Amino acid sequence: SLRLAVIGDPIAHSKSPVMHNAALASLGLKGEYIPLHVSPRELGPAITRMKDLGFRGINVTIPHKLDVMAYVDRLDESAEIIGAVNTIVNENGYLTGYNTDGIGYVRSLKEETRVRLKDKSIIVLGAGGAARGIVHTLAQEEPKRIVIANRTEDKAIQLAKEWSSIANISGVSIDEAKSYMSSMDIVINTTSIGMHPHTAHSPIDPVSIPPGIIVSDLIYNPLMTELLKKSHERGCITHGGLGMFVNQGAYALEYWTGLPAPIEIMREAVLKSLQ
Ligand code: ATR
Repeated sequence: SLRLAVIGDPIAHSKSPVMHNAALASLGLKGEYIPLHVSPRELGPAITRMKDLGFRGINVTIPHKLDVMAYVDRLDESAEIIGAVNTIVNENGYLTGYNTDGIGYVRSLKEETRVRLKDKSIIVLGAGGAARGIVHTLAQEEPKRIVIANRTEDKAIQLAKEWSSIANISGVSIDEAKSYMSSMDIVINTTSIGMHPHTAHSPIDPVSIPPGIIVSDLIYNPLMTELLKKSHERGCITHGGLGMFVNQGAYALEYWTGLPAPIEIMREAVLKSLQ
C-alpha cells in the first residue's frame, strides 16, 4: 500500500491530502496521503523516520522547502538550481528531491490560457521563494524578457543576475513596475498580497495594467484575488493559482506512481474543499 505525506508547519489547512486521496481513489491505488505536522527542529528525524517506515513520497511545504535539501541523497537538477524542494521520491531508502512548483505553474499557465511563452514579455511581482521556481521555469521558454519587480529592489536584482545567462531578466523596484506595464504581455503575482483573509489588497494598482494582457496570480484562496477581479474588469485574461497547486501535485504523483495524474479529479477535490 502506497504511503504518502505532506510535511509542514502549520499543516492543518493543507489541501494536498484531499487532492491526493481523491487521485489515489480514482486511480484505484491502495494507499493513503496524510498531513504531518513537523516543526523545524524535528525535520531531520522526521525524514529519517518516514524513510524507515517506507513512505514512497513526501511533499514538503512551508517552512521546510529549503532546509529539507540537506536530508535528501540527491537533488534533481531543477531543485538544485531553484534551491528548494517540494517533492521527495523514496526509491528503496534513496531519497531524491524535486521541485514541481515551477513546472506545475507553467503547465497550468499554458493549458489554461493557451499562451505561447516564446518571445513574450513577462513581469513577475515578488522575488521570494515562490518567484524563484517560476522565474527559472519561465526562463527556459525563450521569453523576450522577464522583469522581476519587488518591494526590496535588491532581491529582484540579485535574482535577475543569477539566471541572466539563460534569459533576458532584469530586477526593478515594485514602484517601477508600472512604468514597464505598457510593454508587458503577462503579469504574475508571486507575493502573498491578496491572500485570505486580507482579500482587499493588490500588489500593484490595477489601473496600470494594459487591457487585454494576461494577469496571473499564484494565490488560490480566494480563487479570484482583488488583482484578478480588477484585471478582469479591465478586460484582461485572468489565471488563478488553483491550477498551479493542482499541477505541482500532479507532477509529484506522477513521480511517485509512474501513472498519469487524474488532474480534473484533483482540481474538483480541491475546489470542493475550498467551499
Ligand atoms: P514565498 O515563498 O511565498 O515567495 P517569501 O520568500 O517570504 O515567500 O517572499 C514573499 C514575497 O512577497 C517577497 O517578494 C516580498 O517582498 P520583500 O522581498 O520586499 O519582502 C513580497 N511581499 C510580502 N509582503 C509584501 C508587502 N506587504 N508589500 C510588498 N511586497 C510584499
